[in-house]
Amino acid sequence: MWFTPRYDWGMLLDQRQRPLRDLRISVTDRCNFRCSYCMPKEVFNKDYAYLPHDHLLSFEEITRLARVFIEHGVQKIRLTGGEPLLRKNIEVLIEMLAKLSTLDGKPLDITLTTNGSLLKKKAQSLANSGLRRVTVSLDGLDDAIFKRMNDVDFPVSDVLEGIAAAQAAGLGQQAPIKINMVVKRGVNDDQIVPMAQHFKGTGIVLRFIEYMDVGSTNGWRMDEVVPSQDVIARIHAQMPLVALAPSAHGETAQRWAYADGSGEIGVISSVTQAFCADCNRARLSTEGRLFLCLFATQGQDLRALLRGTQSDADISAALQKIWHARDDHYSEQRANGQAPKIIQLKRVEMSYIGG
Ligand code: GTP
Ligand code: 5AD
Ligand code: SF4
Ligand code: SF4
Repeated sequence: MWFTPRYDWGMLLDQRQRPLRDLRISVTDRCNFRCSYCMPKEVFNKDYAYLPHDHLLSFEEITRLARVFIEHGVQKIRLTGGEPLLRKNIEVLIEMLAKLSTLDGKPLDITLTTNGSLLKKKAQSLANSGLRRVTVSLDGLDDAIFKRMNDVDFPVSDVLEGIAAAQAAGLGQQAPIKINMVVKRGVNDDQIVPMAQHFKGTGIVLRFIEYMDVGSTNGWRMDEVVPSQDVIARIHAQMPLVALAPSAHGETAQRWAYADGSGEIGVISSVTQAFCADCNRARLSTEGRLFLCLFATQGQDLRALLRGTQSDADISAALQKIWHARDDHYSEQRANGQAPKIIQLKRVEMSYIGG
């Protein structure tokens, strides 16, 4: 019988003993929103140079890479952007990824972060193609505030209809639908309690994200960050909360349950309580560069390997080398006042690297 030698697929650990578990793949650097904290209009205008089509990884290239990553421990793939639903035929990619299973034979956890604008139209086809769950960004319920944040006059009602469509399509069946709200002081922090009230008891998990200094264009200021502790205090004053234990290693969110049993919320505190110690996330940009941190200045060009003569074994060897060398822990360094200057100046944008 033929025996095909397998290359060394051992578990990867980086310099801080962190495994690789979560791969976030940006499928487009374009978005139809212009959230001020992510793609401010002054920068992302008609003169902005988005990636040309032939620079984008093809679905075959993404799937080939996903296979190698899974063999090294990846259990979850999140499709991001930009706005991932703007990528043509995204359902085809999901179908291809849904055929893969993890090293221990479980189905791959495939999810997607969307602004919800196209969800009403696409929820059913996404579910049909094998998407298991979805995270929708929504920064408030007040139309004027939300429109100011997305900066393209997009109404709240359309996102809520998208969320309802996702529920109806069963995208909240295997795991709850999540809502991400980035909180900016003086801009949408008065939406914290209304958002909590709205989603309480729906089975949807709302998560409040501290506004981060990601990228170099959003003019981030510390005084615009609302610490998660304050978010919890504001909600707790009206709807009592109890802390929950983490459900998975390396989780981004701290979980809280409503004391009356009507569900849970989460807070993502990368500014006030960095969670780098367990960070098991890698990010693949739309053009195939691998970034080891949300705040990295440079990525490793995997597209060159895909489009060269390299075999899967070569790509695997490259990935092992890259992950072994990884020492990134930017949020921790920022918190200690030790963030390298170069990183502060040259960070890549969230819309390019994925959220
Ligand atoms: P789930 O598996 O659904 O819980 O996903 P997740 O916890 O990875 O969360 P999600 O992808 O929805 O991330 C939510 C937000 O947290 C992102 O949009 C970022 O703002 C922030 N975030 C996610 N991962 C990281 C990270 O590695 N570092 C930092 N600093 N922030 C992160
Ligand atoms: N700070 C925190 N989160 C951000 N996102 C984008 N920019 C920022 C930022 N500056 C996240 C939001 C959004 C996802 C696509 O990216 O959570 O839901
Ligand atoms: Fe688009 Fe999401 Fe960035 Fe807003 S946060 S501009 S919706 S990618
Ligand atoms: Fe991971 Fe970098 Fe975020 Fe820290 S700052 S949790 S290392 S992505």
